[in-house]
Amino acid sequence: MRILGIETSCDETSAAVVEDGTVVCSNFIASSKDAFRKLAGVIPEEAARKQIECSIPAVEQALVQAGVTFSDIDAIAVTRGPGLLGSLLVGTTTAQLLASIWHKPLIGVHHTLGHLTSTWIHPINEQTLQLRSGQANKPFGFAQDKRTNEKTCPQFPLLTLSVSGGHTDLWLRESHLKGRLLGRTRDDAAGEAFDKGASMLGLPYPGGPSVAKAAVNGNPQAYAFPRPLHGDDAPDFSFSGLKTSLKYLLRDLKFDAQSPDERLADIAASYEQAICLHLLDRLRMVLQRFPHAKEVHVVGGVSANQRLRSLLQELLTREFPSVIFRAPSTLAYCTDNAAMIAAAGYFLWQERGDAALEAFTTEACIPLEGILEY
Ligand code: KG4
Ligand code: ZN
Repeated sequence: MRILGIETSCDETSAAVVEDGTVVCSNFIASSKDAFRKLAGVIPEEAARKQIECSIPAVEQALVQAGVTFSDIDAIAVTRGPGLLGSLLVGTTTAQLLASIWHKPLIGVHHTLGHLTSTWIHPINEQTLQLRSGQANKPFGFAQDKRTNEKTCPQFPLLTLSVSGGHTDLWLRESHLKGRLLGRTRDDAAGEAFDKGASMLGLPYPGGPSVAKAAVNGNPQAYAFPRPLHGDDAPDFSFSGLKTSLKYLLRDLKFDAQSPDERLADIAASYEQAICLHLLDRLRMVLQRFPHAKEVHVVGGVSANQRLRSLLQELLTREFPSVIFRAPSTLAYCTDNAAMIAAAGYFLWQERGDAALEAFTTEACIPLEGILEY
């Protein structure tokens, strides 16, 4: 089963070809982030304008890089929300158009369900791809890829920490489409905390990678930050207090562009550590309550953070050694990408059958709880 995925929920235009929900044959991503680097965020109309220019070329690139043509595609999966409405409409309109002229089934996918699926995907073996080039219409042999998938396939039930610029959620999942939201942020998302913190530190957007880079040689214990929701029994998150603490710390230190690099590094490292420790704190609480969880996954843009990954791995090794830890296999699968949407479309179709192909609406806000059953 080969699915063409299209994702345009924010400032990226991405198209990908994924086989059997796991093997990524191509994952083309055009980003307009550079245009927004000097600003603290994205200008929605500008992002959508770029996406109109890029969407069809992105699909062409994805097909070419995968060595296939439209006739080799079994279905199209597209992000239907949440996200920037104009951007989403560019993606869903493109997908509807292609599905109609190519006579392909169309699957509308929740963006966050895509992130939740991003730990299932891995890049196709280079050798297999080379063997295929020029043989686009011939039947492909999947045996080797399938064997690898079986070995590495995640096992339910599992906990997923989904951390991006738009949300911070903790899910208990019994299957791709059976899941329960255990906790969520009460204010800012983890990625937003990075983005806003970076902006206060005079670092470019997106803030996560900027803060992580500035923090490399810093001391994560240099400055103390509060522990949000400490003593609160619900495994929810809150980042606005950390952001406010950073603001007062910068004021007290009289921090500005002339401050020494070592100070910036220490502040960035301490702030990054505080965000990560808050995430860990809530995850520990949930792991104690759901000891049957076999795995912990971290997904979304913030899962690209290396400090977070190593702290999570250390926590599991130390306190929950039987639990397997997984993060997306490449950094491109952490941030927004069409491969995860194609993969989610595949599992949606597999679990829901033809109900997955029903007409859908494109919406800026759609709660995932309405899509996952429990
Ligand atoms: O999932 P994503 O690409 O888009 C949304 O759906 O929001 O996540 C983007 C977020 C941004 O807030 C960005 O600052 C954050 O992910 N991010 C990171 C890192 N790379 C991206 N945060 C921390 N460390 C990183 N290395
Ligand atoms: Zn996202």
